[in-house]
Amino acid sequence: MDEIPKEKHDHKPLKFPDGFLWGAATSAHQVEGGNINSDWWDWELHNQPPDFRSGRACDSYNLYEEDFQIAKDLNQNAHRLSIEWARIEPREGQFDEQEIDHYKKVLRSLKDKDFKVMLTLWHFTLPKWVADKGGWENPKTVDYFLRFIGTVVPHIKEYVDFWITLNEPGVYVVMSYILGEWPPQMKSKVMAAFAYWNLAQAHKRAYKLLHQLASSKNVGIAHNVQSFSAYHKHSLMEQMAVIMADLVDNHSFYLLTDNSHDFIGINYYFHHRFNLSKGLIPNLSKGDTDETTHEVSDLGWEIHPQGIFDVLTDLKDHKPIYITECGIASTNDDRRTRFLIGYLQEVFHAIEEGVPVKGFFYWSLLDNFEWHRGFEPRFGLVEIDYTNQKRRIRPSAYVYSEIAKSNSIPHHFLRLLGHTINAKDVLCYKHNGPKALCGHIY
Ligand code: BGC
Repeated sequence: MDEIPKEKHDHKPLKFPDGFLWGAATSAHQVEGGNINSDWWDWELHNQPPDFRSGRACDSYNLYEEDFQIAKDLNQNAHRLSIEWARIEPREGQFDEQEIDHYKKVLRSLKDKDFKVMLTLWHFTLPKWVADKGGWENPKTVDYFLRFIGTVVPHIKEYVDFWITLNEPGVYVVMSYILGEWPPQMKSKVMAAFAYWNLAQAHKRAYKLLHQLASSKNVGIAHNVQSFSAYHKHSLMEQMAVIMADLVDNHSFYLLTDNSHDFIGINYYFHHRFNLSKGLIPNLSKGDTDETTHEVSDLGWEIHPQGIFDVLTDLKDHKPIYITECGIASTNDDRRTRFLIGYLQEVFHAIEEGVPVKGFFYWSLLDNFEWHRGFEPRFGLVEIDYTNQKRRIRPSAYVYSEIAKSNSIPHHFLRLLGHTINAKDVLCYKHNGPKALCGHIY
């Protein structure tokens, strides 16, 4: 058993800047259920076995009030969610007022609870009619998207503080047009380039339109940013691969959409080491399982807290940065606790280095529908029992809640990091002090 170092009384909690946003994120198709007019619903029906279809998902379309109350009770002060284009415009040019009213209610419920609201307008799914016309490969989709925004935003703008036009355009293009794992399941670099270009045009035009329509000038994207390193420090080829991957994955979309971001939104999940002896292309879906001595998630993605520090300092800009997603798929909730404390400690260090990070949204508030992987990966602070839609708050959610409430990482959380930390110990220590008999480590 590891020895716990003696407490140093001069150690202070890691205090985050005043007004820091503490939240969690979800997306409509992954939690709402019954998204029947979308391309994903159609694709699941024809391509996926029943267990891998979104179906009722978490039924958050009906249970949103309960979900938001849980987030509120967990001391979160911000929430990221998306609205579903396929519900609002199920057929070309026909906007469903009842669905717009539904989202007004949803957003009002967040505002009534005093949340800062971050709203995503496109999170991977399209109305089926848009997909049938060629989806993002078709430049007309940019016009359709703008028409959707122009119609819906005047109804909801009073409830929204931050607008995310697009979620992870790069990941979408890789999964849908290069790896061919998501609809429309193409494997075409040419189509991938068209789709990427059109997504960039969509963002630039949506940015301008939102500035005209909404009083809030907080418009950006949620961009999947990865940390890369060379397995052999002295390998020139591996270093070159790091530079190229960083440019393509982390910077290219920003270069295509220059001057159209009020903030930088980062979704952080991956660290990759390039190892020439194993081929230069890392297996993105597998992560670094073979190369690392670190813990990994249930999806094999490496837990590498330093990576978030690296990407934050690399993207340092004068604009505010929001971590719009960061989370772990794990049925081992102690691992989630370690993940949270470890990553947040690195976010704190980045802030100390002068990076203007203003908020953190854990992915995800709830276990949910993880796209082609179905329901098995468990990302939630809150566990869902899909047989009866019951919510059960995981211990790690209470650890996150303590951090949000005090706007800091209490020092004793850090002392336990690197030991056999688990949420029960962290919380017991908090309430009963160092001499308490909390689990096996005291
Ligand atoms: C996406 C989410 C997804 C999460 C975990 C992000 O890339 O925005 O929709 O569930 O990663 O894979």
